[in-house]
Amino acid sequence: MRCLAREEARVTVVMTRAAEQFISRLTFGALSGNRVHGDMFADDPAGIMAHITLSREADCVLIAPATAQTIARLAHGMADDLLSATVLAADIPVVLCPAMNTNMLRHPATRDNLERLRGIGYTVIEPASGTLACGEVGAGRMPGWDLVRETLLALFADQDLEGRRILITAGPTREPLDPVRYLSNRSSGRMGYALARTARRRGGEVRLVTGPVSLSDPPGVEVIRVTTAQEMRDAVLALAGSVDIIVGAAAVADFRPRSCRELKIKKSGADPCIELEPNPDIMAELGRSRRSGQLLVGFAAESHDHEQEGRRKLEEKNLDLVVVNDILGSRTGFDVETNQVTLLTARDRRQLPLLSKEATADRIWDRVVELGRGSG
Ligand code: CTP
Repeated sequence: MRCLAREEARVTVVMTRAAEQFISRLTFGALSGNRVHGDMFADDPAGIMAHITLSREADCVLIAPATAQTIARLAHGMADDLLSATVLAADIPVVLCPAMNTNMLRHPATRDNLERLRGIGYTVIEPASGTLACGEVGAGRMPGWDLVRETLLALFADQDLEGRRILITAGPTREPLDPVRYLSNRSSGRMGYALARTARRRGGEVRLVTGPVSLSDPPGVEVIRVTTAQEMRDAVLALAGSVDIIVGAAAVADFRPRSCRELKIKKSGADPCIELEPNPDIMAELGRSRRSGQLLVGFAAESHDHEQEGRRKLEEKNLDLVVVNDILGSRTGFDVETNQVTLLTARDRRQLPLLSKEATADRIWDRVVELGRGSG
């Protein structure tokens, strides 16, 4: 409930009788800032039409947690309480988060009921596994908010990347120097992860090759973890032949120590110089070997001469689109939630406003979709 409020969703809560045994209406009233509905007849001055009004006013119904009892009633089209009547009257997406004891979930009756609901067109989010309220361990927990959020957002997103196979790189790389030290950079991975989330939301089949970051895996995305630039290159090249779009959002280290010492470098007697050698340029390599119709998108993280540098990378690496961002800006650089970028193609330049990284990612996909349609 709090998570929905944070997303600025307007929420009206309908509670079943069982739900009211666990939580008071007052709590949901305070959290949603709206009147909480329960009984179909008794406490509603609008009386018997509450289920119709509620189903007309909403954009979607989220049932979380959905108990075995509610699932059974919905599967059989019952309408004997406000929740079931509202769902039956609703001509909007219905999303269920089943949560119950493992045996109840595994029971053929529940499985059949869920299958039936899926058949009707309701979205059923798979329950998570772990320790359940009853003390048993297994499947049946409420899924994490991240998965629920992505499911809801996908319902309202254009599926304009459906059927597109997309490969994204994200995060920094680490280039080892000795068993305890490495060379790296300040990339948090947020931009690449936002691109992966939003692409998945828009129907893409997404693989994310990521350097070490402290972000959770975007739901529905295949995540391939790497450490060094060489590992990132090998992972990307292994997949590149089978994808339609590649986005290089990773901050790949341009250089690595010529050798990684087996033992820790001690300060006494050590030569304080680090000898470096170049890493492979992954996007440039992809630009040379791209197959026809494949779209390549690069980033240009710049502190000066932004556009000029962006254009240079567009041409030198043979890319279709370069996303230029200013790494010195306090709200556009590393490790912040927002970004302001310019999108460069061979033909034009579009400057985006300051946006969250997810909103920026969506605008980048808008442009990629345009380029894919040949309307660039
Ligand atoms: N990139 C890459 N492999 C590298 C370096 C960069 O694939 N070894 C990719 C990045 O993922 C990004 C683009 O190339 O999409 C530009 O990266 P950037 O670090 O801005 O530029 P560099 O090519 O490193 O050039 P410079 O150091 O001159 O800015």
